[in-house]
Amino acid sequence: MATMESLIGLVNRIQMACTVLGDHGGEGMSLWEALPTVAVVGGQSCGKSSVLESIVGRDFLPRGSGIVTRRPLVLQLHKIERGTEYAEFLHAPRKKFTDFAAALRKEIEDETERLTRKSKAISNRPIHLCIYSPNVVNLTLIDLPGLTKVAVEGQPDSIVEDIEMMVRSYVDKPNCIILAISPANQDIATSDAIKLAREVDPSGDRTFGVVTKLDLMDAGTNCLDVLEGRSYKLQHPWVGIVNRSQADINKNVDMMAARRKEQEYFESSPDYGHLAHKMGSVYLAKLLSRHLESVIRQKIPSIVALINRNIDEINAELDRIGRPIGVDGGAQLYTILEMCRAFDRVFKEHLD
Ligand code: GDP
Ligand code: NA
Ligand code: MG
Repeated sequence: MATMESLIGLVNRIQMACTVLGDHGGEGMSLWEALPTVAVVGGQSCGKSSVLESIVGRDFLPRGSGIVTRRPLVLQLHKIERGTEYAEFLHAPRKKFTDFAAALRKEIEDETERLTRKSKAISNRPIHLCIYSPNVVNLTLIDLPGLTKVAVEGQPDSIVEDIEMMVRSYVDKPNCIILAISPANQDIATSDAIKLAREVDPSGDRTFGVVTKLDLMDAGTNCLDVLEGRSYKLQHPWVGIVNRSQADINKNVDMMAARRKEQEYFESSPDYGHLAHKMGSVYLAKLLSRHLESVIRQKIPSIVALINRNIDEINAELDRIGRPIGVDGGAQLYTILEMCRAFDRVFKEHLD
């Protein structure tokens, strides 16, 4: 019997395979659409990229004030048992990145600019990145540009609607789990993240409320009404986060030190001490992973049906092209077929 960990690992591999197949004009996209993903939503500079980084446990995303994230970044985390962690881009397969903080971040920046030309413009075209590491939970995460209210110098006037439409195109999907991020130093009642999440997920089934920047609240105020669910009731518990400040980033405070500092912040806080075990980025990652597992479990029957349809389609396609071994397109279809079969076997075990 496969563990849930390996089941989610397979889901990630299938998503990757479907992305590749989709790029080659195949029929894989429907499968990709059926599987759960996690997307971050929120206003500009509320800490979206920082939250994703701490879930991954590595420094690699471009972060900072202003519009830094300008293309969707589809990030698949694959847990490996041992070995050094590395990353690979779909646009540069076979090139392994091990230097996350410098080389990987630079490649994301360069690839962003390749389509947006160093302007403050955005592009709908996602960057696909896989991270293989012993230190992650299996998840597919999507970093998105921040919702904004006004265009700044150098941006087209349409940017406000363009970003909202882009973000919507991800969070509209019923399989998208929404990390709705609001900074604690702004009134949650004005949160763009909660407003959008409410619209696309009125029941709150797939929305996780995350409050960042607790450390930046005015002295004498706290966020307990929100964190304890009295201000805005969601199906899932709210999670408070303290990410690295810009000063921490400038001083190169590393991830492990940041996590320790975050944990200490909650444990020593007179306001949040009683909630310390349910706060912070490590807890958020666990919560998400657990939720993802239960979602996948519910979807097993419909995914099995989809996979079988895909197996049939791929077999038909292989028959049509005469099953050439080693020919590029054919070899790829074989790989995907094998993955589908492995996937199908694991799912069937879970149905028993
Ligand atoms: P994004 O635009 O939503 O992706 O936000 P980023 O993750 O790029 O962060 C924007 C800025 O806010 C950076 O300078 C971060 O250091 C800072 N920041 C994010 N979260 C926190 C937090 O919890 N506390 C503090 N003090 N600063 C934060
Ligand atoms: Na930003
Ligand atoms: Mg960002």
